[in-house]
Amino acid sequence: MVQIKDLTYTIDDRLILDDINLVINKGEKIGLVGVNGAGKSTLLKIITGINEPDKGAILSRSSIAYLEQEIKKNIDSNKYDALTIEEYLVLEKGLDLQAWEISKYMNFMNVGEKTPEDVFGSLSGGQKIKIELIAIITQQPDLLVLDEPTNFLDIPTAEWLMRYLSDYPNAVLVVSHDLRLMNRSIDRIWYLNEITHKVESFNGNYDQFLKFKERQSEWLVKALKNQEKKVNKMIETAQTLAGRKSAAEKIRSAKILNKALEQKKVLEQEKKVINTKSRKMRIEFTAERTSGLNVLTVKNLHKNFGEKQVLKDINMEITRGERVIVVGRNGIGKTTLLKILSGNLKQDGGTYKFGYNVDLGYYAQELDGLDYSDSLINNFLKDTKASELGRKRIMEILSMFLFSDERLDQKVGTLSGGEKTRLALAKLMTQNNNVLLMDEPTTYLDPKSQNILLESLNHYKGTIILVSHMPDFVDKFKPDKVLLLPEERFTFYEDKYLVRVRQE
Ligand SMILES: Nc1ncnc2c1ncn2[C@@H]1O[C@H](COP(=O)(O)OP(=O)(O)OP(=O)(O)O)[C@@H](O)[C@H]1O
Ligand SMILES: [Mg+2]
Repeated sequence: MVQIKDLTYTIDDRLILDDINLVINKGEKIGLVGVNGAGKSTLLKIITGINEPDKGAILSRSSIAYLEQEIKKNIDSNKYDALTIEEYLVLEKGLDLQAWEISKYMNFMNVGEKTPEDVFGSLSGGQKIKIELIAIITQQPDLLVLDEPTNFLDIPTAEWLMRYLSDYPNAVLVVSHDLRLMNRSIDRIWYLNEITHKVESFNGNYDQFLKFKERQSEWLVKALKNQEKKVNKMIETAQTLAGRKSAAEKIRSAKILNKALEQKKVLEQEKKVINTKSRKMRIEFTAERTSGLNVLTVKNLHKNFGEKQVLKDINMEITRGERVIVVGRNGIGKTTLLKILSGNLKQDGGTYKFGYNVDLGYYAQELDGLDYSDSLINNFLKDTKASELGRKRIMEILSMFLFSDERLDQKVGTLSGGEKTRLALAKLMTQNNNVLLMDEPTTYLDPKSQNILLESLNHYKGTIILVSHMPDFVDKFKPDKVLLLPEERFTFYEDKYLVRVRQE
């Protein structure tokens, strides 16, 4: 259906994809995995025709619909805000949909309280993405290409989408760090290896892929050992023959030795690939000083957007070292609360007060703190606290976050989703704060990096207020307190609330 032929792609002399050959068969459900920055989104952009390959071609006669990874940034422009949802889908997107069908999909996707007659501009960012997804899946293309579609979805909607994808009659190619999605809806895995820049294709779902990968590396190590033995034997034989008198034997010796050395070279290379481990991000949150015992007091805080009351009456008393999780559906006001507490948004009423010696750090969900139009290094130098560290230390820190020195001048806007997250985390780490407000910090991170972040938060002695939709992450984070929304109840955390993280 789609054939990828001899595809090679480089960016600024950096090899991203190396001579890739793949096919997508009719109705196949493919999950594309690989570490942050490996080139997954890049591959999708080539398949959908947005980017041109350096070498090779995409052969396809199929209709393709595509959801890009950082849709949220692009969708918030108010170009279509005056159109109703129905007008947007039918006139703007040219879809053959009746109002009742739109309603049906809006129900499936939990855009519940809205109707197709509501204007696009009245939707929250998350709801707009849902309408965009409806536009894409209802086109019923031969191939659906989705780049991390569940990042901004609440769990019931993500689960509905997983079921939809597994029943979808045509082909699907999806990137996701959400392993549950991978397992349920996928029958083939493409693994983009960031060391070889090749794509390895495996039959089966993500769990089967992980098991296979584990066994495969064992086999490979064994096979290489056997080959090594063979080559060594050949060299021995060559040496014995070389000691003989006859010219024929000497010639044979040289031939065998040549062959052995050739094989040895290939072997060394294969060994190098196997022994090159993926580099891991390193992160360590520390506090420069200890804050007072009372960290934060919030009293009767409320916030409206127009007629919509988002936060009604928030009350919290947080003490030093406490780990607080904020739980609630999409669009309920979690980000709004963190924006207010970080001083980036004004409340309509009520007060909040941080205690003695509090140094506050904020990780914004939309990475608002990054300047997309400037380079990696300048993003650091502009930050007063970070710039005091000096260029050398900044380079060391960036290397902990897997940015090599050649990348210092790369524009932040061109970083992959996970790389942007790593940069924001790097900046936050250098501030040595004793209180962290973190709004969905795992969104773009690959599973390994998510674990590394979790561990660093678990070692941190300061106070943390965390928003997260990931049940596993929250469970291992071991919160002390929870703020439950929309009921606005602040209480001790118990395992029973994990269900709410899962459902909302
Ligand atoms: N215009 C550009 N200039 C320089 N480098 C770029 C540009 N566009 C992409 N890159 C780099 O290419 C690499 C691959 O990026 P890509 O977005 O495809 O990664 P990804 O696998 O989708 O990662 P993630 O899981 O974080 O989304 C990254 O290191 C990225 O920084
Ligand atoms: Mg990507």
